[in-house]
Amino acid sequence: MRLLIVSNRLPVSVSKENGAYVTTKSAGGLVSGLSDYLKTLGHTESDIDDYVWMGWPGMSIDKKDEEIVKGKVSQEFNAVPVFLSKELMDNVYLGFCNKTIWPLFHYFPNFARFRKEYWQDYQRMNKIFRDELLKEIRPGDIIWVHDYHLMLLPALLREEVSNPIGFFLHIPFPTYEMYRMLQKGSREEILEGLLGADLIGFHTHDYAQYFLRCVLRILGMENHMSKVYLPDHVAAVETFPMGIDFDKFHTMDVSPYPSKKAGARKPKSVLSVDRLDYSKGIINRLYGFEKFLQEHPEWHGKVSMNMVVVPSRVAVGAYRKIKSQLDELVGYINGTYGSMTWTPVIYQFTSLPHKQLIAQYRKSDVALLTPLRDGMNLVAKEYIAALQDQKGVLILSEFTGAAKELSESVVINPNNIDEIADAIAEALNIPVKEQVRGNTIMQERLRRYDVTKWATDFVNDLKASSMFSNRAASRKLLADDIQEELLENYHKAKNKIIIVNYDGTLVPYSKYPSAAEPPKALLGLLKNLDSQSNTDIVIISGRGKDELDEWLGGLPVNLTAEHGSYIREAGEEWRLLKPLSARWKQEVLPILIMYTDRLPGAYIQERDYSVAWHYHKADVEQASQLVKEVNDHLLSITTNINAQVFHGSKVIEISSAGVNKGELAMHWLSRKKYDFILAIGAGWSDELLFQTMPEHAWSVKVGLAHTDARFILDGQGDAITLMERLQE
Ligand code: UDP
Ligand code: G6P
Repeated sequence: MRLLIVSNRLPVSVSKENGAYVTTKSAGGLVSGLSDYLKTLGHTESDIDDYVWMGWPGMSIDKKDEEIVKGKVSQEFNAVPVFLSKELMDNVYLGFCNKTIWPLFHYFPNFARFRKEYWQDYQRMNKIFRDELLKEIRPGDIIWVHDYHLMLLPALLREEVSNPIGFFLHIPFPTYEMYRMLQKGSREEILEGLLGADLIGFHTHDYAQYFLRCVLRILGMENHMSKVYLPDHVAAVETFPMGIDFDKFHTMDVSPYPSKKAGARKPKSVLSVDRLDYSKGIINRLYGFEKFLQEHPEWHGKVSMNMVVVPSRVAVGAYRKIKSQLDELVGYINGTYGSMTWTPVIYQFTSLPHKQLIAQYRKSDVALLTPLRDGMNLVAKEYIAALQDQKGVLILSEFTGAAKELSESVVINPNNIDEIADAIAEALNIPVKEQVRGNTIMQERLRRYDVTKWATDFVNDLKASSMFSNRAASRKLLADDIQEELLENYHKAKNKIIIVNYDGTLVPYSKYPSAAEPPKALLGLLKNLDSQSNTDIVIISGRGKDELDEWLGGLPVNLTAEHGSYIREAGEEWRLLKPLSARWKQEVLPILIMYTDRLPGAYIQERDYSVAWHYHKADVEQASQLVKEVNDHLLSITTNINAQVFHGSKVIEISSAGVNKGELAMHWLSRKKYDFILAIGAGWSDELLFQTMPEHAWSVKVGLAHTDARFILDGQGDAITLMERLQE
């Protein structure tokens, strides 16, 4: 099985030196982790036996050179470049990705810039990726999209292919209050884009929950056990903390680089490694180190901070600014505290190959990692894994994803400079025995859930999730061949009945219920079907009889209103299905009024024999907390007053006991011996209809959801097409 990895960055970035194209390893945890995983393919048990990595080569390439670059990256790295113009990437990569999303998702709203052009080009760039991918995708490929540059891609791909589509976010997903700062339109489209995937993965449980909360608050979509049910598939949301290639970091021979700790008398080494990013808390770290030097003169000359700072996104102003702040601060600390024989801060502005980096990890007594926000932070895991003697102390910010798994380290709040200073002092004094104890526990954890396990778990869950969608859809889908069988059954039958729900089935759901008038073509279709020999049409609805009368009264078909309280048989007047009393309303209405006052946006709809309490316009979270109470309260009183309570989709409905679409169906079905029954519905109240259908009935639900119907149809339009096909 082939894995198709898609990310903005390829594992290598292309640049031009002296007129020739050269490649260098791309920076960052995404590339680092995934590259290590791909190297293990073939050595581990996995269904994946091949892969291709698609992404941007890191610069715009002259049209005439595209083939050269293609050849270079495909041979060496199984990569397929997606060529993008400089103008586009200025707005997308430097703009929307790194001036809007990155700061917002890392809780730096003041750095966030919102520009229409950024967003429009982000949409364009995601579509270009889709088009390039469509040239590459083969049946059976597993598609795995990565990170915040491509959040629209899952939904764009779903429209075109049926392969499993996974998405993983490598950065934090922020809280609702932060996320909602995105422009209207974009914030909805990004969520919808992500929900196009069968599986959406996050590093931590919190990020997954924040995402689901945004989906609820912004799109109004609820989840069931972290699954969001969409019309054509199910999107599962899960947590997969990314691991590292533990064995590589633990066992790599790093010679000729020195990797032994300096011993008791030589200066101790405090290591700091990151891309130069304001989210990494590098400035706080230096302030913390300075405070430590201020408060602990006994350590002067005996400890140095060794900083590896990887150049990153230098074309973005905020990144350039932090570079000059860093230079200034390092100069200040070294000038103030240093001596001829001791440099407090040693700083390299470069990206080291892993061999050298691992040597640095091993020879450091302390690793000081203080991001203000970080999706995961692989460096923290790599440091722990690299310690072959288990000696060393990790000081780690609680605002990293990694802190959840590395709780035996010294976990700090990096916003507090004193806390950083104290942690350094503490770390330098932790007894070796204690270091070994904590690091052994963490190493075991990192060894077990390494990057291969992470990727394998994701891919396996993706396959399961996509099969669940396909199974749910294919098991029940009223596909063409089954429709043929239905038609044959219809034409052969002597007595036929079509029971069809109105809203969502005959007409699309409408934002304004009073605007869901039937189009002329629909009236013609219903009339036509009704005129066919031995065919009874029954339209069922929760609407009131007056509304139905106004829209459908002129048709010679059977109508039922208020979920079955009233019926109007063809050619007759409206009447109650059975004697009913509405006295229970006196008890119920005051309760509903009380809750309506407590929940802004909720409203009551009173009909002759039913009352509905709607809350779809209320605040979703406030509603979800109150609704259970309303339901319980109503249930507790209705047991004695001959009324029943149904909890539907954003509505609680109370009606006279024994009135529902199931009872109603029994009424129609008891009139004749029908040998063809078609029941089609879309809403929650139609489930009772499906449940009471005899085995040979064709029960059909419109839209993918858990249903008791035997079959499903994708959308409302398909229900009309089916009915059109029934015409002789
Ligand atoms: N890294 C590297 N050379 C360096 C510094 C860092 O190869 O000089 C790698 C490091 O091994 C790690 C990655 O860069 O795998 C950084 O990932 P992390 O998750 O810590 O942060 P990100 O850069 O993705 O925000
Ligand atoms: C983080 C992001 C990656 C990104 C990396 C390097 O790890 O999650 O998507 O590739 O930083 O940043 P860059 O802007 O150079 O791709």
